[in-house]
Amino acid sequence: MKIVTIVGARPQFIKAAVVSRVLKTNPAVHEVLLHTGQHYDENMSEIFFRELNIPQPDYNLEVGSGSHARQTGAMLQGIEDILLKERPDLTLVYGDTNSTLAGALAATKLHIPVAHVEAGLRSFNRMMPEEINRIVTDRISDLLFAPTRTAITNLENEGLLPLTCFSGDVMYDSVLFYQKLILDNPERYITTGIPQEYMLATIHRAENTDNPGNLRNIFNAFARLDSEIVLPLHPRTKNILKSSAIIPSNVKIIEPVGYLQMMKLTMNARKVLTDSGGLQKEAYFLGRPCITLRTETEWVETLHDNWNIITGPDTELIIKAALAPHPGKPQKNEFGDGNSAGIIMQKMTSGF
Ligand code: UD1
Ligand code: UDP
Repeated sequence: MKIVTIVGARPQFIKAAVVSRVLKTNPAVHEVLLHTGQHYDENMSEIFFRELNIPQPDYNLEVGSGSHARQTGAMLQGIEDILLKERPDLTLVYGDTNSTLAGALAATKLHIPVAHVEAGLRSFNRMMPEEINRIVTDRISDLLFAPTRTAITNLENEGLLPLTCFSGDVMYDSVLFYQKLILDNPERYITTGIPQEYMLATIHRAENTDNPGNLRNIFNAFARLDSEIVLPLHPRTKNILKSSAIIPSNVKIIEPVGYLQMMKLTMNARKVLTDSGGLQKEAYFLGRPCITLRTETEWVETLHDNWNIITGPDTELIIKAALAPHPGKPQKNEFGDGNSAGIIMQKMTSGF
């Protein structure tokens, strides 16, 4: 069975690494890896291939950055050429980026079945480009791998239950796999020059970066927190902050780091403040309280007992959430049993 896997952005390299590792154990599967080139900086792309032992992509379209239509259009053309050449039995896409949408759309128009990992996530906020990508990708895919029961319910509400399989979350598999490696090697994956005690923050969501008021409110809150804040800065946010002087003195900006370094930073943080999808879950899996700098989350399972608090870009709510006591109760496991990749492979190779 030939599978063309399409990736392009940081979180997709991490998710694909988990599934590819399992696919490699099956001699009946031949995986061809296509990188759209949506992310291209060394520390947004290559570092993950190196660190997570992902084979070099068979193809890199090098589409780079651009408006949604330009970027997605360039991907569509490039992906179509490769799918016509490779003629796979299945195309595999991850998450909700423009690379996901382009991969699913190009494949389905060529009558190549599409499997979508991380299907059924909904914020119900159509202002998010990711929400449009998810809705369209799920609608045109043939096999939907839902990471949570909430995702199953969302797909059921859209009439897509017959195509849906509960896989659990591949990012949970990933945390289980790498957490042990980090704990067993305490001298490795260290970020130099960061304070002993800190909160960890990331900001890259368009609704925050493209709205100067939101960005200012978030940094105003950071300035008033009784903590150092380590902020590995996404290039999108870096470009915007270049023209602005709102970074408070307790915020330590660093370059984006590799996945293992990031996991260690998360494990050692007092709290996590983020608008990332993936980091909300990693904070949860690693037992760190999270503050979500968005007005909603797709990962509602993380909200119980205040493990994750939604604040949006609201200065006072962020400060209040940062002062909230540590949640007393343990996390619940609603993200599968750590074998999502095994379930995904089994389903994809059994004729679904
Ligand atoms: C994309 C995804 C988002 C995901 C995020 C993960 C879409 C619509 N958005 O957002 O869902 O959460 O990836 O990180 O697909 N840039 C660089 N170097 C790079 C990559 C980007 O400088 O290697 C800069 C460019 O100025 C670019 C901007 O970041 O215009 C945004 O990049 P883009 O891939 O369009 O969107 P992200 O914000 O990264
Ligand atoms: N991440 C990383 N280095 C960083 C910041 C994030 O490896 O400097 C990881 C993070 O641990 C998570 C993933 O990138 O696994 C999340 O990606 P991102 O926040 O870019 O996208 P989202 O999940 O919001 O789509």
